[in-house]
Amino acid sequence: MFFHGTARVNGQSHLEIGGMDTVELAKQFGTPVYVYDVALIRERARGFRQTFEELGVKSQVAYASKAFSSIAMIQLAEEEGLSLDVVSGGELYTALAAEFPVERIHFHGNNKSREELEMALHYGVGCIVVDNFDELELLKSVCENKNTKTKILLRVTPGIEAHTHDYILTGQEDSKFGFDLQNGQAEAALKQAISTPWLETLGIHCHIGSQIFETTGFILAAEKIFEKLSIWKKELAYEPAVLNLGGGFGIRYTDEDAPIAASKYVEEIISEVKKLAGSYQMEMPEIWIEPGRSLVGDAGTTLYKTGSRKDVPNVRHYLAVDGGMSDNIRPALYQAKYEAVLANRPLEKAEETVSIAGKCCESGDMLIWDLPLPKAEREDLLAVFCTGAYGYSMANNYNRIPRPPVVFVENGEARLVVKRESFEDLIRLDLPLQEKIKN
Ligand code: LLP
Repeated sequence: MFFHGTARVNGQSHLEIGGMDTVELAKQFGTPVYVYDVALIRERARGFRQTFEELGVKSQVAYASKAFSSIAMIQLAEEEGLSLDVVSGGELYTALAAEFPVERIHFHGNNKSREELEMALHYGVGCIVVDNFDELELLKSVCENKNTKTKILLRVTPGIEAHTHDYILTGQEDSKFGFDLQNGQAEAALKQAISTPWLETLGIHCHIGSQIFETTGFILAAEKIFEKLSIWKKELAYEPAVLNLGGGFGIRYTDEDAPIAASKYVEEIISEVKKLAGSYQMEMPEIWIEPGRSLVGDAGTTLYKTGSRKDVPNVRHYLAVDGGMSDNIRPALYQAKYEAVLANRPLEKAEETVSIAGKCCESGDMLIWDLPLPKAEREDLLAVFCTGAYGYSMANNYNRIPRPPVVFVENGEARLVVKRESFEDLIRLDLPLQEKIKN
């Protein structure tokens, strides 16, 4: 079994994370529960930041908070000197509530509303990543009304296809995101932006997709961007101060995944960007990146209690847990694969192959197919690894299942950072059909 970060088997033969026995965590906080290995998040953040420092390249490493946004997580990002990518008023609100330095917040999204842009300007976010012509117009008018200037990046679509799941592919021409680089839209957007006194166009942004294991896609994107930049330098006298190459660095969910180290991604990309800048006789721009998954993904483990079994002779053993697609929709949505162990007896030999079912009323609610496990009993503890990114953030209340709590563990201490939702929380926003029902 592959253990991430500080996960190991302790003297009680239990799975331990951050120096905390997971069996004790389950007792204390209940199940399901998301457990985050804080030391591993710090290590990942430092991996990116230090590489830039060693290479002497000005940079910002912005945590893509869509991967997991909560006040404590954003405070941790701040402690590690990261910047922050937010994509909605809600993510921005969370960042503000965490008192994240507003000048290091970058505001993304393909359909920011007038209210969201007003909010961003009101609080003075560091940079707005403009996604389309409508937004460019809207932002101009919002700036004008508020008599405020703002810094922007233009998000471009370089027209390359990264090798990943279709739903998390974003760099190709047929995408809802960004100004197309090849068909002239990006250039038209740049002309508009630089002729607008309200907008300070810091540079160009591109994000080619997610869960990517090679640097080829990033390098191809950089090449395509520099081809255009060299033209824009000549024709528009425009040189970007910033090039944001997005996120998307892959992580190891199962042994089918072979990610490369953060340092390697950064070194290879920077070496190419330096070459490109040199060959086009351009200043080396500041490089920004936006990792989400690779900062928090493998730091998260979900603990579930096992429940009902269903054995279909000669077909399959179903083993159900007390969560499912309500706390991890990724298997149902992307056929994502995960590894898991029985956290209360991780060293025991596998005796059977089971498929882990969730408790939602939907056949597609399966967390893991064909997992080798020791013979599991009711109330064993199942630890599913690598649920730190897009787990809690995509959790939902299907079947009115309350969302699990989030616990940070580090150096033998556990801290509850998101409370478990209660049944009362579930009906908090409901209103009765008629007043009398309430009485
Ligand atoms: N920057 C931009 C503009 C993005 O759209 C994304 C992710 C990121 C950064 C961070 O990407 P990461 O480093 O986390 O791969 N829900 C899907 C992933 C959607 C990613 C959306 N954008 C999943 O669970 O796999």
